[in-house]
Parts: sequence; C-alpha cells; structure tokens
Amino acid sequence: MKRTIFKRLFFAYGITLVLGFGILALLLLQLFNQYFIETKKELLMEQGRKIGEELVLGLYTGRINQNKLHNDLQVLDKFLNARIWLVDNQGMIFGVSALQDEKYLGDRISEKQILTLHQGKMIDEKGTFGGKLQEPFLTIGYPYYFNHDFKGGILIHASLPEVRKTFIDIYKITIWAILFSGLIAYGVLYFQARKISRPLKEISAAAKVIAGGEFQKRLNINTRDEIEELANSFNHMAESLEKIEENRRNLIANISHDLRSPMTLVRGFIEGILDGTIPKEKHQYYLDIVLTESKRLIKMTNDLLELNQMQQGKVEVKKQIFELNEAIRRKLISFETPIKEKNLDVALVLFQESVHVFIDPHFLDRILTNLLDNAVKFTPSGGKIMVRTSDHKEKVWVEIINTGITMDGQELKNIWDRFHKGDTSRGECKSGFGLGLAIVKEMIGHMQERIWADSFDNQVKITFTLTKC
Ligand SMILES: Nc1ncnc2c1ncn2[C@@H]1O[C@H](COP(=O)(O)OP(=O)(O)OP(=O)(O)O)[C@@H](O)[C@H]1O
Ligand SMILES: [Mg+2]
Repeated sequence: MKRTIFKRLFFAYGITLVLGFGILALLLLQLFNQYFIETKKELLMEQGRKIGEELVLGLYTGRINQNKLHNDLQVLDKFLNARIWLVDNQGMIFGVSALQDEKYLGDRISEKQILTLHQGKMIDEKGTFGGKLQEPFLTIGYPYYFNHDFKGGILIHASLPEVRKTFIDIYKITIWAILFSGLIAYGVLYFQARKISRPLKEISAAAKVIAGGEFQKRLNINTRDEIEELANSFNHMAESLEKIEENRRNLIANISHDLRSPMTLVRGFIEGILDGTIPKEKHQYYLDIVLTESKRLIKMTNDLLELNQMQQGKVEVKKQIFELNEAIRRKLISFETPIKEKNLDVALVLFQESVHVFIDPHFLDRILTNLLDNAVKFTPSGGKIMVRTSDHKEKVWVEIINTGITMDGQELKNIWDRFHKGDTSRGECKSGFGLGLAIVKEMIGHMQERIWADSFDNQVKITFTLTKC
C-alpha cells in the first residue's frame, strides 16, 4: 500500500483525537463519580441519622413492635431509596427493609464492622458489603444507644445508579464528540492534505519533464510556505541546468566553428600544393600559413584542456614566496618585439623596490602573459600601456591599463567567458580564441585572489590582487 501524506495525517489526527477525548472523559468520570458519591453520602448521613434515632427510640420504648418496625423500615426504604438493615449489639441482623434481604435475618455482620460501631464510629463503605449485595452499594452505618448503652447499629445501603448512569452518559457524549470533531477535523485535514500534496505532485511531474531534457520547465506555486520555497529552489535549479545546457551547446558550437575555418584553410592550401594549383615558388609562403594555423589550433586545444582541468579542480596550486617586480619586468621584456612593431608607449610604475608575494609562479606567469598579450594585441599602434602595482594592506594590486577602447558594463562582464571575443578582436587581433581571460580568471580564483575590469576614457584597466608575505 502506497503511503500518502493524507494517510499519515489521518492516523496522526485520529490518535490525537481519541487520546485527547479519552483522557478528558476519564477525568470527567472521576470528577462526577466523586461528586455524586459525596452528595449521596451526605444526604444519607443526615436523614439516616435522624430517622434511625426516631425508629430505635420507638422500638426500645415499646412504641413500635416487630410488625410496625417492618412497615416503618419499608417506608424508610422507599423514602430514602435505600435498603436498611438493623443489627443488635452482637452484630446480628434482626430487621431488614427489603424482601430479598430477609434471608440475611439472623446473619451477623463482620467482627470489624461490629467493632467500629461498638467504638461509636460510623461505617462508611463502598462495595457489595462482603458479597451480600449483588451490585455496588454505598453503605453508611451508625451505632445507636438507649440510655447510654450501645444497643446495635442501623445500616443504610444506597445503590449508586445515578453514578452508573452518569458513566454511561459521559461515554456516550465522548463518543459523539469524537465522531463529530473527527468529522470536522478530517474535513479540514482532507483539504489541507490536498493543498500539500497537489504542489508536491506538480514538482515531481516537473522534475520528470526536466529529467527528460526539457530545461525550460518552470513551476508556479504560491502557497507561501515551505513548499513554495521548494518550488523556488526547484526553479532555480532548472535555470542553472538550462544555463549549463546552453553553455554546453555554445561551447560545442564555438569549438566546431573555430576549428572549421583554420582547418578548411589548411586543407585548401595543402590541396593547392599537391595538385599544383599553387606554384612551387609560393609553397614556402603557404606552408608558413599552414604552420601558423596549426600552432594556433594546438594552442587552442591546449588552452581548452587546461581550462577544463582547472574547472574540474584537477590542477594543483603550488604556492611559494616569489618576487613580483622582477617577474613583471621580465614578462614585459618578452613582449619587446610586438611593442616596438606597434610603436607602443609603455610605462611601468612599481610601488616598492621589491615585493614578495605568496603565489604559484606558473600561474602568475600565465596570468601576466595573457593580460600583457591582450594589452599589446588590442592597443592600436601608437597607443599606451601602463603596468602599475600598489600597496593595499596585506595585498598588492597589479593593474594593466591600455588605451584603444571604452567597454560598457555588459562587455566588461562578457570578456571573462570562454570563446568570447569582442569588437576589438578584429583584423590581426582575431588570432585568439577568446580563452585567455577565462584561463586567467580560473587561475586567480584557484589562488583565492580577485580580478576585475574597468573601462573609461578610451582605456581598459584589468586589476588583480596578490597576497604579500
Ligand atoms: N586589454 C584589452 N583591451 C581591449 N579589449 C580587450 C582587452 N582584453 C580583452 N579584451 C577583449 O576581451 C576579449 C576576450 O579576451 P581573451 O584574452 O579572453 O581572448 P583573446 O585575446 O581574443 O583570445 P586568446 O586570449 O584566447 O588568444 C578579447 O577578444 C577582447 O575583445
Ligand atoms: Mg587574450
């Protein structure tokens, strides 16, 4: 049998209701019981005492004979709605009010009871009076005296039908209350359970749709509770999945596209050389292009592999103490040729003679290479480049600034994406694949540093942080 929320709540409600009312009923019964017995006892004590005294007085003064005694006892029985027995000072029953008790005439009550009366105390018992009575009775007993002599006792047995009736009434009321409130509770429960389970079913169905590859699926649940939270998280997840899927598609499209053009080129040139369309004296020229293109393709493949490994966390960061200024100088010198070719104005501003930082030197080398490569590549001939370091408490900021373009906010975000190439990467600059900054960002992230880009006044500024030591 399948478990549902409704069934679970059904049992929980049921148990609570029955337990709640059950305990209430028991408490009420106890209360009524006590109240009725107490009242009854008081009544019997009061009236029984008065009437009993009269009777006994009459009996001993000779005003009442045995016959009359029997009659009087019967009247008293009716009046008090109780059975009355008279015992003598030995505890022998010599007078009864009810016909069915006549068989006890001559019997003796227990020693203990006689003793109680003898001592002038009252008998106060609840039960069948040692088995003599068929149902539970409340028994009150008084000693009586004549001329200050103990002469015997009068026993009054009152049945407790009211109490019994009250018991039954309370049981009935309890059962009705359970049934009635159960009906209402289960009505409410039914709607509540439906309210909970319906959106859950919706979520489950949506999950199946998404598992089937339809990532556009979204939920619209407004229950203003945890389920709505769940639905929101679900939508969030769906969005992420959709984005991942889109990224994956884009990546494949980009790779295929970026692979196809150089490969077609290479194939065209080689075919031309082989079938003689390209004359012998041009072979060197075209083979040079083929070589450059092959190198580009290898670089792209390597970059992609590296990026992928870093994103999967497969690359280890090996931090060590390292002198920053020297590294920057060397890197700049390695770009001397293109800088001279483009006639760029380069400025280097270092805030201190030497700065030691705690980094992975391989990462730093890659970061500087990629950033300077961009700066040199995207600065128009005759433009300016500045590399500047500054002190920020435990950090060093490295800024690489170049002229040539002002990027808007969206573009400043996009440049970090894989395969993103901006308008600047036209003409000679289009040799890249748009992976450089993605790698830089990944490496900076692995070293727990930050990197960001600003742009204003025809300038682009990339800033990253390093930790001093
Ligand atoms: N210093 C810069 N000045 C102007 N534009 C820049 C600069 N750095 C990056 N960009 C823009 O951001 C894009 C992404 O840069 P990224 O370094 O990732 O790719 P790429 O240089 O085109 O190719 P790759 O680095 O893979 O050879 C560039 O195509 C360019 O449009
Ligand atoms: Mg680049």
